Amino acid sequence: MKSKILKVSLNRKIENLSYPIIVGDNILRNSGEILKEFLHKKKVVVIYDSFFSSTTNPNNAFEEFVQSINKLTATLNFIDIPGGDKTKNIDQLNKIIEKVLAYGIDRQTVIIAFGGGVIGDVAGFAASILLRGIDFIQVPTTLLSQVDSSVGGKTGINSKIGKNLIGSFHQPQAVLADINILKTLPKREFRAGFAEVVKYGLIKDLEFFNWLNQEYESIFIHDKNSLKTMITKSCEIKADVIKNDEKEGAERALLNLGHTFAHAIESFGNFDGRVIHGEAVSIGICLAFKLSNKLCFCSIDDTKKVINLFQKSKLPTSLHDIKKISISTSGMIKKFKLDKKSKQNELTFILNRRIGESFIKQNVNVGVLTQFLNEEV
Ligand SMILES: NC(=O)c1ccc[n+]([C@@H]2O[C@H](COP(=O)([O-])OP(=O)(O)OC[C@H]3O[C@@H](n4cnc5c(N)ncnc54)[C@H](O)[C@@H]3O)[C@@H](O)[C@H]2O)c1
Repeated sequence: MKSKILKVSLNRKIENLSYPIIVGDNILRNSGEILKEFLHKKKVVVIYDSFFSSTTNPNNAFEEFVQSINKLTATLNFIDIPGGDKTKNIDQLNKIIEKVLAYGIDRQTVIIAFGGGVIGDVAGFAASILLRGIDFIQVPTTLLSQVDSSVGGKTGINSKIGKNLIGSFHQPQAVLADINILKTLPKREFRAGFAEVVKYGLIKDLEFFNWLNQEYESIFIHDKNSLKTMITKSCEIKADVIKNDEKEGAERALLNLGHTFAHAIESFGNFDGRVIHGEAVSIGICLAFKLSNKLCFCSIDDTKKVINLFQKSKLPTSLHDIKKISISTSGMIKKFKLDKKSKQNELTFILNRRIGESFIKQNVNVGVLTQFLNEEV
């Protein structure tokens, strides 16, 4: 199967920036050739998910990747960190930074993030602050990171106060997404990534949503053509949204559909794996549609269609589906106020007029929200 190359082009005021997203099957063994222009004679540090060096990993894609880039680089060093949101914190960042510096890097050094969204976010953030910013490349290995976190340049870590509150915008030089590496991904993680895929249809592409609704069975049995179509379409939609709004002045906020709820849910869960990001997003999107319906923006039919697709995909769709985490209305509202979209205590949510049309709703009334959440918790 041939690989597909997309381009992210950012229309910045001062300089335009574009980078390739390469999506294909079994392409990691050709990484040296694909990434030659970025790695040739450079010092390279690969920050990778420790899953790939564990004895239980049946996946040899990482070895193939290393072999393929090995001859190209001036030096090649490695740092392994565990996946999971518990890793995305300041202590882990500090360890990474000290280790990278100890390798004796220079301004031409390239960091490669090889792993899921957690590895990409923390390694990308490290790259953005080391020597005031060095280049980095994303090799996403989960569905979620292939369709979402590896593209767009948001990097960062969680704080004890809340999710993703520390970070920077730092665009990668290239993204290399190999669908073959998804074969070892646990089903739960695959489903979690699917929640972010559905999000793209919901915010601006009814046709894509309908396609996902029809094709979800072939997607879940990893049909290669369906996977490739789904991943490239998701990246195309994301690239289209961010091209004129790299730093989330307005339109990019639509990509946060369901995320104000999701981040609050995750932080109630203490990032300990009882609820993972994509699951929280699934619940968050269902809540955003229910709220859109309560505020008379969106029909009940569309709301039910959305919940139905998540249920068919065996994703949680309500706060009752995560009974192990105790959540209160007042606690949720406190966490909403930490959301990066909220201004001067005003609550902002991404809501929907219909499937395929999201919008930014500022100043959502706290009384209405309290009543809504009381019915949901
Ligand atoms: N930067 C962004 O724009 C953006 C967007 C969406 C989400 N995110 C962030 O991404 C994170 C979630 O990403 P994620 O779901 O990829 O989580 P993750 O990186 O924790 O990976 C999930 C699990 O899958 C394992 N894993 C990774 N690749 C594997 C493979 N090929 N086979 C088997 N196991 C594998 C990991 O070890 C981990 O246990 C969250 O922190 C979220 O906030 C960031």
